Amino acid sequence: MQRISFFGSGVVGLASAVVFSSKGVETIITDKDLEKLDAIKSGKSPFREPKLEELLRGSLQSGKLRVNNDQKSTVLESEITLVTVGTPTNHDGSIDLSQLKSTVESVGIALSQKKEYHLMVIKSTVTPGTTSNLVKSMLEDKSKKTVGKDIGLAVNPEFLREGSAIEDTMNPHLILIGSADAISADRLEDFYKESYQRHDLPIMKVNIETAELIKCANNAFLATKISYVNTLANICSRIEGVDVEAVARAIGMDPRIGPLFLKAGPGYGGSCLPKDVKALSHFAESIGYDALFFKMVERVNELQPHVILSIAEKLIGRFTNKTIAILGLAFKKGTDDVRESISVVIVEYLIKQGSTVKVHDPMAMENVRPIFKDRIHYCEKAIDCLKDSDCCLILTDWDEYRNLRSEDFIRNMKEPNVIDAWRVLRINGSGKIRYVAFGIGSYLK
Ligand code: UGA
Repeated sequence: MQRISFFGSGVVGLASAVVFSSKGVETIITDKDLEKLDAIKSGKSPFREPKLEELLRGSLQSGKLRVNNDQKSTVLESEITLVTVGTPTNHDGSIDLSQLKSTVESVGIALSQKKEYHLMVIKSTVTPGTTSNLVKSMLEDKSKKTVGKDIGLAVNPEFLREGSAIEDTMNPHLILIGSADAISADRLEDFYKESYQRHDLPIMKVNIETAELIKCANNAFLATKISYVNTLANICSRIEGVDVEAVARAIGMDPRIGPLFLKAGPGYGGSCLPKDVKALSHFAESIGYDALFFKMVERVNELQPHVILSIAEKLIGRFTNKTIAILGLAFKKGTDDVRESISVVIVEYLIKQGSTVKVHDPMAMENVRPIFKDRIHYCEKAIDCLKDSDCCLILTDWDEYRNLRSEDFIRNMKEPNVIDAWRVLRINGSGKIRYVAFGIGSYLK
């Protein structure tokens, strides 16, 4: 079995490394962030991800996973290097390739000292042309070798989700291989077939640019579904008794539409969907096409937090001097990640409006501290967060919020105004509570 190495210990790199090493593949992981590497070495994940630590400890114990802070030996002691560094957004919407460039440079320099064939695989998300132009020329320049002959190059985008990274890597719905030469593509295909030992592995081989585009297009389509259903929710909220969940359930039963990613809410966040819609839009522009469609998907998402805020304003009036309870900070349940979280946008807005903001999240509290410092109040329990507040906004669909009852809001809040942006509660608006289940009724009339 081929030995593999990962450059980059984010969710994609670390989850993939622990899954493959748990399947018996000799795996090395490296990162420029030495603190992160130290944590991983001691069996601790730098982020919260279900089942990850358990597998990580097993792989470290079995010796199948090694952590190495020396980039050169990481390359030399493996046959395939998978690049899983971050490609965040620049101010203009393009992708920041600085981490990718420095990784390709290090791998290239290491490869200049290797006699045997080595395959480099780009797993990081990039726009079409990045690998064939920038990566290939850098790699050939630094390694003094030729791609397609002495060394291999492939693009292998990742489709795992945060919060189910291990599950998704264990059961991929697609293994997408983009390559300009058959040897690179076949080596990577063989590696996957050997590691998964499954005959029905869904592998698709395409050229490099197609693979790069598929990755961005996939996330942009998911974002599109969300902006679409949020648009519907905003319409439903203006029609007496019409419920967006019923509408989404019905249209989702049409196999041409499908039921997933039709949950209305405060908008999409995270490190991927917002970035990839922007990147695709920016990329289209760079090749002479104004992709208005993606701009609208983005615009709907930018406005969505303000839809939630305007409902709150209708209930309580101006935000100045009001106390607002925010339940949920993570960009979605099951993770402690607050990158591009809609909650962060909303909290920032409320602070600017002069509100006192109290927050709770079962996992992500520590990750918002560096952002808000002492500008907000951190509550250990959801109930503490409700105390003396004028309005509660539920912004992440954590299961534990489902257990909150009308009484909890009535007893603890100054005024029991509740906006349930994800429809997690099982209460209705009757009695003393003023409850708005987002996407139903005519509260925005
Ligand atoms: C996303 C993709 O789903 C993965 O396939 C992809 O591999 C990953 O990006 C990536 O490019 O690395 P992730 O960012 O973990 O995964 O999160 P999602 O589950 O896609 O959720 C993104 C956002 O959409 C969240 O804020 C979520 O709350 C929101 N969402 C999701 C909705 O508003 N409605 C829905 O119906 C579903």
